[in-house]
Amino acid sequence: MIFKNEQYRKHLKIVSIIGARPQFVKEAVIQHEFKKYSDIQEIVVHTGQHYDENMSEIFFETLSMSQPQYNLSIQGGTHGQMTGMMLVEIEKLLIDEKPDLVIVYGDTNSTLAGSLAAKKLNIPVAHIEAGLRQEPKSMPEETNRVVTDHVSTYLFTPTENGAKTLENEGIVDNVYFTGDIMYDVFVSMKKKFTTDIIEKVGLEKNNFVLMTLHRDFNVDEKARLESILSQINKINEEVKVVYSIHPRTKARVQEYNLEAYLKDLIVLEPLPYTDLMALARESKFAITDSGGFQKESYFSGKQALVIMPDTGWIELVDEGINLLTEPEDIYSNYLKLGTSNFKEGIYGNGDASRIIVDVIRKEFLGG
Ligand code: UD1
Repeated sequence: MIFKNEQYRKHLKIVSIIGARPQFVKEAVIQHEFKKYSDIQEIVVHTGQHYDENMSEIFFETLSMSQPQYNLSIQGGTHGQMTGMMLVEIEKLLIDEKPDLVIVYGDTNSTLAGSLAAKKLNIPVAHIEAGLRQEPKSMPEETNRVVTDHVSTYLFTPTENGAKTLENEGIVDNVYFTGDIMYDVFVSMKKKFTTDIIEKVGLEKNNFVLMTLHRDFNVDEKARLESILSQINKINEEVKVVYSIHPRTKARVQEYNLEAYLKDLIVLEPLPYTDLMALARESKFAITDSGGFQKESYFSGKQALVIMPDTGWIELVDEGINLLTEPEDIYSNYLKLGTSNFKEGIYGNGDASRIIVDVIRKEFLGG
């Protein structure tokens, strides 16, 4: 007779795949949780998808993370080229490292490549931030989410809606509703959100709007990008708009000769996590198409105008906190902001990373 415990490992080797800005933030809290245990070895692989100093390295410093053991330096190209090159390189290193588990985060090309490489080698995959879906279905992130969820062994979902979505798609085994690890990061870093950046930029508290904008469907088409920026300028006539610009959008603005739309805004290079959060806390509200930032503005007690036809974080819209908007309606929707109903605790208690690591320990080490 075999006791269940005999099937457990004495030591657990995990490979975590990251590559883009939001994944560095998520990996930070998981990494700190793993470091509490001597029987867990985590190898971090950076695909290289985000590579500018202020899109990558600064996050490792700000969030006190260890440097990745591997950096694949895969950047640019088409989605197929990027994903394909990652798949080849990740497969090689998984064959060498032979991990017990691969962890992937969110919805980027790095997530897709990491999960596919592991699945093809029969290595269990844990997807953190599973079960999110949104329109337009054509956006690359949506393909990455759906495929990753369907090849994952363990699915950690930040919302109850996420668990229901997975069930509707026939995924019921090893689905864990944990709360959102982005909230863990927010809670654990809160004391570092100082007002230095407000003073440095010369802003008046509660008298500016904080914006991010980078989705391909918003910025890669000139007419849509121009419509967004023109509406933002209307808002800027009433309240200062501070824009933390993404390299993709910066490139498109130059390519389409739309620089004039930025001249009256306060445009900042991509900010470290703590500075973005410090600004969010002191802002009036947020304008964004970022999956992460639409929640972080909520964590900061602010509403967000979300320039998307749909969102994976629909709870915030259902609660009347965030508002989805088409480009041409940005200004009129801005006029509708202001809610007395600011429900708290939608994304858990800030202990999602502990719950995730507990599940992994129980599964592989028996506790
Ligand atoms: C990616 C993710 C998206 C996530 C976002 C966070 C995919 C399909 N999308 O989008 O889910 O919300 O990251 O930022 O994986 N660039 C630089 N320097 C950098 C990074 C990018 O110059 O450090 C430029 C490159 O020209 C690149 C372009 O920005 O082609 C777009 O970057 P890319 O990695 O394709 O995706 P994001 O738009 O950042």
